Amino acid sequence: MKTPAERAWAVFPGGSLGEYNLPPALTVVLARGEGATVWDTEGRALLDFTMGWGSILLGHAHPAVTEAARRQASLGANFAYVSAPALELAEALVRAVPCAERVRFCASGTEATAYAVRLARAATGRPKILKFEGAYHGANEVGTVSLFPRRLLAFPEGEPTSAGLGAAAVADVLVAPYNDLETTAAIMEAHRDALAGVIVEPLHRCTPPRPGFLAGLRERTRRLGVPLIFDETVTGFRLAYGGAQEYYGVAPDLAALGKALGGGYPIGAVVGRADLLDLVREDRLGEPGYVWFASSVGGNPVSSAAALATLTELRRPGTYDRLFALGESLRAGLRAVLKDEGVTAQVQGDGPLAAVVFTGREVVDYRSAFQADGARRRAFLLGIFRRGIFLNPMSTKLYLSLAHAEADVARFLEVARATLREDCR
Ligand SMILES: Cc1ncc(COP(=O)(O)O)c(C=O)c1O
Repeated sequence: MKTPAERAWAVFPGGSLGEYNLPPALTVVLARGEGATVWDTEGRALLDFTMGWGSILLGHAHPAVTEAARRQASLGANFAYVSAPALELAEALVRAVPCAERVRFCASGTEATAYAVRLARAATGRPKILKFEGAYHGANEVGTVSLFPRRLLAFPEGEPTSAGLGAAAVADVLVAPYNDLETTAAIMEAHRDALAGVIVEPLHRCTPPRPGFLAGLRERTRRLGVPLIFDETVTGFRLAYGGAQEYYGVAPDLAALGKALGGGYPIGAVVGRADLLDLVREDRLGEPGYVWFASSVGGNPVSSAAALATLTELRRPGTYDRLFALGESLRAGLRAVLKDEGVTAQVQGDGPLAAVVFTGREVVDYRSAFQADGARRRAFLLGIFRRGIFLNPMSTKLYLSLAHAEADVARFLEVARATLREDCR
């Protein structure tokens, strides 16, 4: 009889649904989750520090979200048309997110950023999108150009991180160093006639923006008349109820949402300026600038109902204080453990997010983290996984949720200490 792990390796490339890159001996098959814990099919409990890659901000199987999804499922799972929950959710997004005048739903962050980029190109009639080196915007072209470049090419040349991208798709991405406004502005200026827009993760992976960086992008995009796109797939509803644009006080023209919004159910949304979103109006089909943006399952009523229940919970007083306090405990605790164990590393993140970069340099962008010790990172992450913490061993990005307690953070820190001592020398 095959084990669940062997069955997974037989049908899934790499034994997973994507990323993870676990050796077969560590591969697990999950059966259920509750709060901050997941259980595999053998009944082993693992404390979750990746939380559906951040799609679960309230905790697994949150009763209010589960009940909302169950109730809606019994009323019909999908109409591919405006439903009462989708309408209510769109109204909630317009109230919550500063730049949101209009909303169109899709089913993932990858789709949302791809559509936002398409809108920018359509609005300007120009081809090139500026992104920041090392930024992830989903599995689409812009997301995978210079995601993990191996050669540090002269800016703004990009390097595909995935095979299968067309040469034109790569050439249409201008790559700039995050947090370096001067270089970014020079690239924008040099390519102003071809520039369609700028896309940025306001919190770049876990690297915070330098004071004035986002405002500088805002000012320069406005001056050149091109849309500024915030990829808020991670930061939306996580750094603040209104996302990074509320948290940092800089409103983009368009924003991509996903992950936490859906409470674990598939969701994506592009929100932003009405004149930009209105390019997708189907009565404009055939007109210049019309953008095709449609999805059979985008804005489906089950995901919308789960999202509405999620937002109701997030609006409760104290939500963000709690998320930020947990994140601060984790980051401060990691710094202390790394120091005690004599390991040189940077701990980054904000709100309920943390990441460890094994380097002595201050990390402000992709290149400052490029020389980091990848072998130590892998040993650290696999060691933590082996000791009963569920995380993605391809990334040190850790996601907390409202279901985590200080005791869970303490347990993580204990495990991190043991791993550094025993596996990372
Ligand atoms: C910043 C950012 N944008 C977009 C995405 C893609 O979202 P999805 O996996 O829902 O397609 C991710 C996923 O990790 C992300 O971190």
